Amino acid sequence: MSDRTYILGIESSCDETSCAIVADGGEVLSNVVASQISLHAKYGGVVPEIASRAHIEAINSVIATAIKSASVDIDQLSAVAVANEPGLIGSLLIGLMAAKTLAWVHGLPLVGVNHIYAHGYSPAVDSTPIEYPGLALIASGGHTALYRCESPIELELMGSTIDDAAGEAFDKVASILGLGYPGGPVIDKLARTGNPKAVDFPRSLLKGQSLDFSFSGLKTAVLYHVNGVPGARRKPNQQEVGLENLSESGIADIAASFQAAVVDVLKIKLRRAAKIVAPRSLVIGGGVSANTALRQMVTDLADELGCTLRLPALKYCQDNAAMIAGVGYHYLKAGLISGLDLDARATVSR
Ligand code: KG4
Ligand code: ZN
Repeated sequence: MSDRTYILGIESSCDETSCAIVADGGEVLSNVVASQISLHAKYGGVVPEIASRAHIEAINSVIATAIKSASVDIDQLSAVAVANEPGLIGSLLIGLMAAKTLAWVHGLPLVGVNHIYAHGYSPAVDSTPIEYPGLALIASGGHTALYRCESPIELELMGSTIDDAAGEAFDKVASILGLGYPGGPVIDKLARTGNPKAVDFPRSLLKGQSLDFSFSGLKTAVLYHVNGVPGARRKPNQQEVGLENLSESGIADIAASFQAAVVDVLKIKLRRAAKIVAPRSLVIGGGVSANTALRQMVTDLADELGCTLRLPALKYCQDNAAMIAGVGYHYLKAGLISGLDLDARATVSR
């Protein structure tokens, strides 16, 4: 009998169907991710109904492949962990039903995991444990928030977006610039050839020492920059507005300037939060943590703050089940077992 704790994790909160088996909260034995990007691309964003249906089609084979490639028998598992909040309700329910079925059939404990906590744990996946207290920035397509972390499962919300999430802003700006979906990776790539100082886009910091974020004004500023302010008259000698009148380098400049504005805001808020937390670790997670400029900014900031930087490996930035199984280990150790009546929730309950 092995003394290792093997956890099977399931993630289906948005548009990735994923199953992983992780040993002792860190060592990834398998992590299978079925992406739905090609299904949603033509709509410029995730269509919930399409996402739910695609999860149903993928989930059985994703689970079977994860078990097979981990070379672990189901009877060696200690628990089934599943993301049950926050996310698209129809998507969450598919993973949750699969997890409940596995747990019931095999007599395993069911562990409901907060998807955001899992992003905050992602830097520890296939790596060393995070040192606490940590200051976490979770930036994805659905969330942008700062947390004070005392442990992998004790996170206190310090601030969050009052409108668009950072990833959502990347996706919408990419759409304005005619760059396709998802916008983050393509803006990231294009921004490398652009001038981040070309356009002085607004940095919305909100009132006082607020730790909340707002990205919708920035998105609108990009829209007006490209298409002109509605109702405004063109000045003499002013260049014709519209995407069709922009050169490739002009679009790259806008992408770089937009990205610089997002990264600047994140930096200012992280600095403010660090004054309160005095973190030993700066923890970054979520799809946007793959961003090159963000990764450079937090590298410099951790240096400035004199704390350790914990960035997830690129493959653990996007939604994945390895982080669910990883953080699920800590839920299990703390005795946080869920009943088979566990519900999916669109928003965070704790
Ligand atoms: O965490 P994630 O896979 O799914 C959610 O839970 O939302 O994040 C997806 C988001 C998308 O908005 C995508 O455009 C953004 O992360 N993203 C990026 C990059 N790669 C993905 N944003 C900026 N730069 C990137 N390199
Ligand atoms: Zn996510």
